[in-house]
Amino acid sequence: MASKYQAPRGTFDVLPDAARGRARIEGAAAAIFARAGYEPIATPAFEDTELFERGVGRSTDIVRKEMFSFEDKGERSLTLRPEGTAPICRAYLEHGMHKLAQPVKLSYLGPFFRHERPQAGRYRQFHQLGLECIGTDSPLADAEAIMLLSDLLGELGVPGVQLRLGSLGSLDARRAYLEELKAHLHAHESELSADVRERIDINPLRAFDSDDEGTRDVMASAPTIVASLAGEDAEHFAAVRGLLDAAGVGYEVDPTLVRGLDYYTRTIFSFVCDALGAQSEIGGGGRYDGLIEQLGGPPTPAVGWAAGIERILLALDETEEAPGRDAFVAIADENQRQRAMALAVELRHAGLSAELDLAGRGLKGQLKHANRIGARRVLILETDGSAQLRDMESGEQRAADPGNLVDEMTGGES
Ligand code: HAM
Repeated sequence: MASKYQAPRGTFDVLPDAARGRARIEGAAAAIFARAGYEPIATPAFEDTELFERGVGRSTDIVRKEMFSFEDKGERSLTLRPEGTAPICRAYLEHGMHKLAQPVKLSYLGPFFRHERPQAGRYRQFHQLGLECIGTDSPLADAEAIMLLSDLLGELGVPGVQLRLGSLGSLDARRAYLEELKAHLHAHESELSADVRERIDINPLRAFDSDDEGTRDVMASAPTIVASLAGEDAEHFAAVRGLLDAAGVGYEVDPTLVRGLDYYTRTIFSFVCDALGAQSEIGGGGRYDGLIEQLGGPPTPAVGWAAGIERILLALDETEEAPGRDAFVAIADENQRQRAMALAVELRHAGLSAELDLAGRGLKGQLKHANRIGARRVLILETDGSAQLRDMESGEQRAADPGNLVDEMTGGES
């Protein structure tokens, strides 16, 4: 019987079948992060609203329209985190991590919240896993970050993945370029869609993302920052590309690549997957050399990325089979309950997965249930203290030594 209550729009329940696929992704990511020395960090699910306004940028869609913000009882404005980079930079400064040997390499995983229009691959609560490498401007860090996401998607078997790479230049170069771009947009104002026109001076880069035909024509002749990269910015971008080439990581330079957060400088990248439809980005990120200073810290270059766990799952489109059980402890008689409980516990302590009946079924019902949960063997505890061992696959059953049931089970495993 369904209740009138449902998970809120844009959210979902992770049922056990889906949880198994997630656990595999999270396990693979944790192993990749650990092997490359990215230590786990966890920050709160909500932060002061101002952190995101300053960090992510007031002109972004995320801050303008998509934040779940609320006032606490002390009339402070708090926001459910829409992304993880600004909170991690906050934590980096709060805990004096800038005094540690640099770079500080961190990894994370958890729920994030954006009030977006829900559709396949786009939710209001979703999960990201990601990494941040804070305190170096070396192109090696950019290349390492990109290669780790490439490795993860490869190891998981995500099909049809492409890497798009761009560069926004340093903060000064970016500023100069934005003036040039705004001038181009103003010169073609009448051909632009209304929402792009309104945001020429607020966020001109988003015009590259527009679906509107007139806007796209204008953008086809727009100056690109990749073409205008010069000096150290051009060298940095060339060095990142050289490192990816040497490592055999395929990519396409996309001079029109932009991202939905304001903090990026220099390298930006996006892993897209053709299996995903409209929400085709599976993960992405880039360098954010100005963010920590923006939050009140010392000038600190950094790079990182995040990938959407739901999008990885959608791209994989596979369900993980339930793992089955090593053993089920059945009882022929109620008077064997205590013994069954003790035996199940002992089997678990010996490292086996073991269940017993918790619903008062008769022996026949217990065997049926053992079969349903995929138990490979059933130990039947008889009224007189003897025991039977039944192999569920072959149906064979034999007497077992009641004093050595755990040994029988573990010995039989090897
Ligand atoms: P982002 O591109 O906003 O970057 O999000 C990263 C990933 O999160 C996306 O590629 C997508 O897979 C997933 N994602 C975003 N929004 C949703 C949604 N509404 N529903 C489902 N999945 C979603 C960031 O958040 C940056 N903090 C990444 C970063 C880390 N840059 C540097 N360091």
